[in-house]
Amino acid sequence: HPGPRDAFRALAGRRGRPGDRLIEALAGARSHTPDRPGAWAPEVARGLGLPAASGLGPAGYYADLAAPRGRRHVRVCTAAACFCARGGRPPSDVEEALGVAVDSVSADGGTSAQGVRCLGYCYAGPAALDGDAARTGPTLAAQLSGREPPRA
Ligand code: FES
Repeated sequence: HPGPRDAFRALAGRRGRPGDRLIEALAGARSHTPDRPGAWAPEVARGLGLPAASGLGPAGYYADLAAPRGRRHVRVCTAAACFCARGGRPPSDVEEALGVAVDSVSADGGTSAQGVRCLGYCYAGPAALDGDAARTGPTLAAQLSGREPPRA
């Protein structure tokens, strides 16, 4: 089955000026590999016909590209509305449910948690994105641990 390199090539082959497609290609590559940007960003840039180093700048700058990742990547909102919805507490219940601290990866590389500033679910917080799936509400930690059914 296709691996990350095939995905990188497919992203690089899209139309438009190479520089215009760099962020999109980096974001696409990011979703295909848990490795740190240094392992894949130069290849993505070269695939677009750009200098290898041009991939490293944005991949290291944007938190969503640079954040360490496990095979399961959960973005946990730590912004104001979710902080209030959590009763003014840090997301330790979520960290416990996932078995990993915010902004780190579990020792086996299975799970990562990334603290983010607002996911657009302020009205329903606390909120998280489990991969691409939104999870919200007072049972967030239980949803993420699998003890409660998902609720968007
Ligand atoms: Fe958490 Fe907006 S503050 S989703």
